[in-house]
Amino acid sequence: MLSTRLTKLLGIRHPIIQGGMSWASSNAELALAVSRAGGLGVIAAGPMYPDDLREAIAKVRANTDQPFAVNVPLYNKRSAEYLDIVLEMGVPILIASQGGPKAHIARFKDAGVTWIHVTANPVHAKKAEDAGVDAVIAVGGEAGGHPGPDEVGTLVLVRATVKAVSVPVVGAGGIADGAGIAAMLALGASGAQLGTRFMLTPEAGLHAAYKEMVLKAGIGDTAIVGRGRSPIRMVKNAFSAEYEAAVAAGASDEELNALFARSSLRQAAKDGDIEQGKVEAGQCAGLIDTLEPAGELVERLVRETEAALAEAGSCVR
Ligand SMILES: Cc1cc2nc3c(=O)[nH]c(=O)nc-3n(C[C@H](O)[C@H](O)[C@H](O)COP(=O)(O)O)c2cc1C
Repeated sequence: MLSTRLTKLLGIRHPIIQGGMSWASSNAELALAVSRAGGLGVIAAGPMYPDDLREAIAKVRANTDQPFAVNVPLYNKRSAEYLDIVLEMGVPILIASQGGPKAHIARFKDAGVTWIHVTANPVHAKKAEDAGVDAVIAVGGEAGGHPGPDEVGTLVLVRATVKAVSVPVVGAGGIADGAGIAAMLALGASGAQLGTRFMLTPEAGLHAAYKEMVLKAGIGDTAIVGRGRSPIRMVKNAFSAEYEAAVAAGASDEELNALFARSSLRQAAKDGDIEQGKVEAGQCAGLIDTLEPAGELVERLVRETEAALAEAGSCVR
């Protein structure tokens, strides 16, 4: 039994959050499997039409009484609508990313919604705490998706964030197994958020070719692409090679913007174009070599975490 401030805050059995991932968790299936197994399942609103989001929330709610969350990137052009849906449908937990909480948080507090805020910087984490968030997720530079601009690694970022705030901290970026979760708890975090690991499950809404490419990737096969734009960590492919070559050749900002905008996550995630699309994934892709049902994965992660903590504890004499 891994009981932490996070499990108590959220009413979940295990201190494990399935990271909100555009397309991969923009469905009911992944969040449902994780929440049923006692972790926190998260629906990623980012690429969803409002009615699809409503439908996914209703499906999760109809099939489990366990807590679940919706992830809303606050910069998203539809974020106001997503936030309204979270309130209107009584979603218990909101995970907000990419933007500050201040302008929105009051009405969520009034409605009793738990607000978890994603940050990649301890100063921003403290500001979010001051604005009233209930917990923060600190995402290090190893992570898939959008790493913070400073690219500080998880080991340093999580420790700095734990020192900066009093609310529970969730560590994220580079965690693929129970040893990684145990490491977060040892750093003083109250839980861990895993993205890439939960992407490699049958429930994740990604094209099979995408999953296959991430499964095959080694720890050095990802790169941060698009620095100075909206950088992403992705598996290296033909698009990333062309982009890096253009940077090296001194391409203008205009040319780089056009090249970066030509490729999308959707192209890889939905159409399976894994050479020209953005195959977002974290460095821990290199630690994962099997697709595993999400519910079984949660159970295995818990067993591994307990074993890793016991083993580390046995060093203390
Ligand atoms: C394909 C992909 C899509 C993502 N989309 C989002 C998103 O829509 N919103 C968000 O807050 N984070 C997003 N993330 C970040 C994850 O929620 C999580 O923080 C990250 O994956 C953790 O690092 P890891 O991949 O090393 O486990 C995404 C990550 C990946 C791999």
